[in-house]
Amino acid sequence: MNKILILFAHPALEKSRVNLQLLREVRGLPGVTFHDLYEAYPDLYIDVKREQKLVEEHDIVIFQHPFYWYSSPAILKEWQDLVLEYGYAYGKGGTAFAGKLMLNAITTGGAQEAYRAEGLNRHTIRQFLAPFDQTAELCNMTYLAPFVIHRSLFITTEEACKPFASEYRKVVEALRDGTVDIEAARKAERINDLFPKFTVSGLAQR
Ligand SMILES: Cc1cc2nc3c(=O)[nH]c(=O)nc-3n(C[C@H](O)[C@H](O)[C@H](O)COP(=O)(O)O)c2cc1C
Repeated sequence: MNKILILFAHPALEKSRVNLQLLREVRGLPGVTFHDLYEAYPDLYIDVKREQKLVEEHDIVIFQHPFYWYSSPAILKEWQDLVLEYGYAYGKGGTAFAGKLMLNAITTGGAQEAYRAEGLNRHTIRQFLAPFDQTAELCNMTYLAPFVIHRSLFITTEEACKPFASEYRKVVEALRDGTVDIEAARKAERINDLFPKFTVSGLAQR
């Protein structure tokens, strides 16, 4: 069984609809540590040693966050800047996180079709997430395709969010249980696509 660390970042959780429900679905699952970064560090002063130890104790790191300005909320950048030290996570002798898996789990306002070369945002989600991908590579980690929920602003009720939340739980459980095809998950556009489409009509196209 893989141990999963979810590094959660939402600067206004009181306004969240989708991430709030996603986190409720995975927080407390066996083998999953849920770590709310804005709750732990409201002033952004990250305890580097604590974070490094946390990652060391897990096999898979999931950055869960809303997609903000084609990237993550600020605390995740701060986390990377401070926690991924030279000689520790990368560079000479920097192998502390080698062999671990990393991925993002994101919610976007934009629709899936907006994230294409011909679409409104002109780039794919994986292209926008290239800094995470390459950071993982430099730290000798394996970067997997992100879990993505598109058009999250249109998911306005708890009922409507349920299929997405349970899809997220399924992905997290499969990663934990080691039943995900890692090669396929490295190459996919979204890790969701490796799982059977959920059945609520109309939602599969998001
Ligand atoms: C500051 C800010 C920046 C955002 N930037 C993007 C963006 O670049 N692309 C996008 O598709 N949605 C963007 N959105 C929409 C959020 O992704 C969306 O509100 C969020 O995923 C909803 O999740 P929640 O209910 O958990 O807050 C942005 C929203 C905010 C507040």
